[in-house]
Amino acid sequence: MTTARIGFDLKPSAQPLPDAEREAILANPGFGRHFTDHMVTIKWSEGKGWHDAQLEPYAPLRMDPANMTLHYGQSIFEGLKAYRQTDGSVALFRPDANAQRFQRSARRLAMPELPVEAFIEACELLVRQDRSWVPGVGEESLYLRPFMFASEVGLGVKPANEYLFMVIASPAGAYFPGGIKPVSVWLSEEYTRAAPGGTGEAKCAGNYAASLVAQAEAAQQGCDQVVWLDAVEHRYVEEMGGMNLYFVQGSGADARIVTPRLTGTLLPGITRHSLLTIAEDLGYATGEVQLSTEDWQRGNADGSISEVFACGTAAVITPVGTVKSARAQWTVGDGEPGELTRKLRETLLALQSGSIEDRHGWLHRV
Ligand code: PLP
Ligand code: COI
Repeated sequence: MTTARIGFDLKPSAQPLPDAEREAILANPGFGRHFTDHMVTIKWSEGKGWHDAQLEPYAPLRMDPANMTLHYGQSIFEGLKAYRQTDGSVALFRPDANAQRFQRSARRLAMPELPVEAFIEACELLVRQDRSWVPGVGEESLYLRPFMFASEVGLGVKPANEYLFMVIASPAGAYFPGGIKPVSVWLSEEYTRAAPGGTGEAKCAGNYAASLVAQAEAAQQGCDQVVWLDAVEHRYVEEMGGMNLYFVQGSGADARIVTPRLTGTLLPGITRHSLLTIAEDLGYATGEVQLSTEDWQRGNADGSISEVFACGTAAVITPVGTVKSARAQWTVGDGEPGELTRKLRETLLALQSGSIEDRHGWLHRV
């Protein structure tokens, strides 16, 4: 691993998208459908380390059919957002946390670790160049997708000796078409997302590929999302397909806000971590717990669980309204977004847009 500062070669596009077309996209960006004018690439090869860092026009890649990623899946990614601040500037939210998680994912997939400073610099460069793509203050933002994959050509099963790191950016509106409308979830008992010793806490492409069949099952059951349970007993709640989960126990000033503890099989979400801190700042008790589906159903019936919500960079905070499994079905609270869910969501968004004090130094101005 090289830790020296990487010099970027800047090759801005001679033909960025015309202003009117960009504005039309920003008026209704959706999620992950449109991409900005530029991308960042950095190569890694054995013996040479990180090299050939560039900011260049967004363009398709040419790939050899025997590229090792296509066959053996050494591919990891991150997701973070740039937010328009109330003073007009732009800030990334906790890019250092994403950079560190990217290093952990790389280690698990036997890939080289990109230095934290290079990860942050790559994100900064892209946001600076494509600043006009950052939507105005509000719920919209510019979603950054840093990723890395093997670029060696060959069919031997081994860690590749060449990789490509890239960052692309996409303006993002609500991840769920319903916005803050509560989602319905399916408790998956047949499929497993991640087992102990596996790749559950890494943000690797294969975890998402493995989740799709269960997501399709959830849709067949009339649900929006799948909730993953532990691999051993299929009993304990872990997380959703692209989000962590939170439960509100009790209500009002005495509420306790809890989330499944990190067992190694779920993703340590940065939003999850931020919310533990924000909830404490707001004066609530918090906890990292082991919660079974029976606890959830019982807590719902006796009122001790009053709200449930999902959280993640893309999804922000999304209430869970109804729950369904092979044996049971229930509505969380009155099926509407709960008071604390709303309060935490508003506080998180206010923090990310710089309209309340950044007590923890989470905003990284670009
Ligand atoms: N869990 C999974 C499987 C995810 O893909 C994500 C999204 O990144 C999360 C949780 C939430 O993580 P974060 O808050 O860092 O976006
Ligand atoms: C994110 O929230 O950044 C995610 O990665 C979730 C999903 C889009 C995969």
